[in-house]
This record gives sequence, C-alpha cells and structure tokens, in this order.
Amino acid sequence: MKTIGVLTSGGDAPGMNAAIRSVARTGLQYGMKVLGVMRGYNGLINGDMIELNMRSVSDIINRGGTMLYTARCKEFKDMAGVQKAKETCLKAGIEGLVVIGGDGSFRGAGDLSSIGIPCVGIPGTIDNDIACTDYTIGYDTAMNTAMDMVDRIRDTAQSHDRCSVVEVMGRNAGYIALNTGIAVGASYILVPEIKPDIDAVIEKIEKSRALGKKHFIVVVAEGIGHAKEIAQEIEEKTGIESRETILGHVQRGGNPTVTDRVVASQMGYHAVELLHQGIGNRVVAQKDGKIVDYDIQEALKMKKELPMELYKVAHDISF
Ligand code: F6P
Repeated sequence: MKTIGVLTSGGDAPGMNAAIRSVARTGLQYGMKVLGVMRGYNGLINGDMIELNMRSVSDIINRGGTMLYTARCKEFKDMAGVQKAKETCLKAGIEGLVVIGGDGSFRGAGDLSSIGIPCVGIPGTIDNDIACTDYTIGYDTAMNTAMDMVDRIRDTAQSHDRCSVVEVMGRNAGYIALNTGIAVGASYILVPEIKPDIDAVIEKIEKSRALGKKHFIVVVAEGIGHAKEIAQEIEEKTGIESRETILGHVQRGGNPTVTDRVVASQMGYHAVELLHQGIGNRVVAQKDGKIVDYDIQEALKMKKELPMELYKVAHDISF
C-alpha cells in the first residue's frame, strides 16, 4: 500500500495519541504516505485530513486526548455514508485505514472493508469492554485516575466518618468499577454484571462497623447508576452520613500510563504490519500478553466476562 489513513472514533481514551504516533511512524518507515483523518468517520466523509510526518507525531506519546480529534458519526451508520467515505478514500488514494476506537467504530470498519477499503481496528476505550481483547487502550490510565480520585475522597470521608458512594465510568461494563474498587479497598462494589442488592451493601457496612470501621467507600459502576439514591438509602438505613460523587469525564483525560503507551505502540505497529501485507477487516487484540488479530465480524460476536473470582476476592477482604 502506498497511502494509509488513521482515525480515532468514539469516546477518546488516554493512549490514543501513542497509537497514532506508532501507526504514522511505522507507515512512514515502510515508505507509505500517512493521512490523519480528523474527527473520526466525519473526516472521512468530508475529506478532512492532514498528512502526517515523523515530526507531526512528536511530543504526543505523553498526552491524553487525540490529536486527530474524535466523534461518533451518525451518517456512517448507513451504507450511504460508508459509500461516501469510500469515495473520499479513492480520491485521496487511501488504500488502507487504521481505526482506533470501540465496537461501534469496528462495525463501521467492517462495513468499509466489505466495500473494498481494508480497515484494521485498534481497541481504544477506557471501558475495556471489547470482547476480543484482554486489554483496551486507556483502561489502565482511567483506573489509576479513578483510584487517585477515590483516595482523595477517602481522606474527607475519613475525617467526617462518612460513607462515600462513588460512581465510575464503564458504560455497561464493570471492569473499571471492579478494579478501582479493589484498589481503594471499597466496602462494596456494584457492577452491572450482577443484580444490585442494596441490602447486601448495608449488611456489609454494618458488619464492618461492628468491627470498628467508621468510614466507608462504595464504588458503583455507571451501568448501575443511582449513586445519589444509593447514598440516601445507606444514610437512611444506617444513620451514617453519606455523600455521592460521580467522577465522570475526569477519567477520560490525563497523561497515559506506561501500560497504555506501550500497548498502544505495539498495537499501532501491528495494525500497519497487517495493512502492509494487504490484510484488512481485522481487529488487533491483546491475548495472554501477546498482540494478535481477529476477523472484525468474528471479533464483534465474541463475549467477555467480568472475572468473578476477582469480585469475590474484593468482597472477602474488605472489612
Ligand atoms: O466509552 C467510554 C465512555 O467514557 C463510557 O464509559 C461512557 O459511558 C461514555 O463513554 C460517555 O460518553 P460521552 O463522551 O458521550 O460522554
């Protein structure tokens, strides 16, 4: 391939810049022209792109966000939009495309591949909710940010003998909640994969209180929500003053951790290697510590489960 494109799509995630850098530098080393497509599939439909060189991706490996900006593109959900994108690709000479994003973005990449533009997906989302891969770019940074924030909340919860109910992101998945919950020593973790049981939360708080504990952290995944109502119920039923905090988009920003920079660099490299061999319609993944790739449609059908043994450990050691 002589020219490839790279775009970021869906919610941004720390480490996306490291992936862009890796894609650009690997492609340039192969003598390819590398075009950075702006604002996800919108840029592909509108022809909004910039040529990347070795220096234009300097000083971004350490930065959160995405230098190519990102968006969720409604128009690309219809084949008419995908067709428009193909025409832009043909005009710009783009023979292959790297799409950094989540499942929704991969569906689009599959559609574009099916009409003749080979695409390779790289999993980029803080949620770690992409079934084909053990790891998604941004996940580690988001968890560490959430952990730091809850550590701060703990200081004030401790000073006031309060219960803090903290909602973390994760869309419909409980990965951020589970790991952050363990890392902050939460009394209870509510995840969407398990039916919420507020009585169990209260029972746990009472048990710890009987053992002398005076402040409590409850981590609630976004997929459960209702942090305010949960805090109110805890206060009503236990008499412990309670407060809710929704961490929100703070979890999507910040400098990527080592893990996110390294995995993003590996995945970007692997994606371009595939395109260089003329292979498209693939998703790059990390499986058992190795970088591999899967057919996009097969990847989208895969299922992933929250590690229940970790959930048990979290609750068995929190008192
Ligand atoms: O997928 C990443 C994520 O941050 C989810 O955890 C959250 O549900 C969603 O994106 C929020 O999206 P938006 O960018 O539309 O606020």
